[in-house]
Amino acid sequence: MIPIRLFSWSIQDPQQPEVDNINSSPRECVSRLIDAKFQQKVYSEILDHQITKEFPPSQDYVKAFLKKYIGFIERDQDEEIDENLLEYYMEMVNTIPNMAGDHGSKDQDQSSYKVYCLDNEQQQRVVLKVTLSMISQGTTGLSVWEASLTLVDYMIKNPDIIRGKIVLELGSGCGLAGLVAAKLGAKKVILTDFNGSVLKVLRHNRDKNQDGKDSLGRDLYGRVSVDELDWAEAERYIARHWSRDDDGGEEMLEENQNELARGREEVAINAVADVIIGSDLVKSNTYDPDILPYLTHVLDKLLINDKQQAFIMSTIRNEDTFRRFKDLMTDKVPDLETSIESMASMPKILCHENSAADVRLISIKRSIAAVTETSASQ
Ligand SMILES: C[S@@+](CC[C@H](N)C(=O)[O-])C[C@H]1O[C@@H](n2cnc3c(N)ncnc32)[C@H](O)[C@@H]1O
Repeated sequence: MIPIRLFSWSIQDPQQPEVDNINSSPRECVSRLIDAKFQQKVYSEILDHQITKEFPPSQDYVKAFLKKYIGFIERDQDEEIDENLLEYYMEMVNTIPNMAGDHGSKDQDQSSYKVYCLDNEQQQRVVLKVTLSMISQGTTGLSVWEASLTLVDYMIKNPDIIRGKIVLELGSGCGLAGLVAAKLGAKKVILTDFNGSVLKVLRHNRDKNQDGKDSLGRDLYGRVSVDELDWAEAERYIARHWSRDDDGGEEMLEENQNELARGREEVAINAVADVIIGSDLVKSNTYDPDILPYLTHVLDKLLINDKQQAFIMSTIRNEDTFRRFKDLMTDKVPDLETSIESMASMPKILCHENSAADVRLISIKRSIAAVTETSASQ
């Protein structure tokens, strides 16, 4: 399967391999985008491909794409529309109810699949069941948000931050970032959320992505788990996590419980995860900024030693909310060191719907001084 982003749809983009735009006039580029060979490729490598059949994309999206592409071909006097393409489109027009104007449709709320190819050789991909509406069934977690695409780009560029590590994703939504972490070689990944519908989709997406090998050639099966974690109830989650310790059996379970009763120093021996990741958790206007204290709380509970690190990728839609999160971190959890980096100049690997979005990475660590101080006072 050729990812749709690797076809050269833009006549200005010189980077794409499919059409050599540098030496071609715009007229030549257009004719290559619609010539018979290219049309056949669009049909066989996208529409008729096994992966598209197994994981159907949004039908409205495919219909809109074909309408535009066929219209493009029709404008050219010399080129004919490929028979397979036309037949495919006609069948869609006849079987799928008309789109509700240009302002969305029922399809927006229904699930379809998105396939994310992580490398141009297509060795690694993540398949996700998603809805197209940003808010559906009362939750923001059933669609893929901009910052998760940037977090994926960042992990592909910096795989060492997660390779061989236990990674816990907060507010996973559909699970893109966590599943990519597993594909890139994390030792174990825990996808978490607190919404029932989201957890159901997360389990489905985990099941669809656990066959095969990671990028280090190791089996993926059984390395990704899905857990309910409400940030407001971080302590309960940690206790529950320990009480079903997979590695140490009963002995370890008892030891963990004793340690939990004793406090932070012993807890440090048994951190739930080495790396915490999250995307589009610090936002506003689309949902309640009052969740910010819970987010600082869960980070405080999960980051217990100075070897762990959290990477929270955020789309900045409202500077005030972002500032409020930073202030909360400084006031309530001063032992956590926070650094912020703009992702504006990071090259994009995945296809971003809003590539102009202001996305920033918040890296968080517990300070060495704080850990030493806590140990000394025990
Ligand atoms: C905007 S979505 C982002 C989803 C995903 N990380 C992404 O970037 O595509 C925010 C997610 O945080 C989850 N969430 C919000 N408040 C939460 C809480 N208190 N505890 C756990 N998850 C929470 C929501 O259920 C939702 O899945």
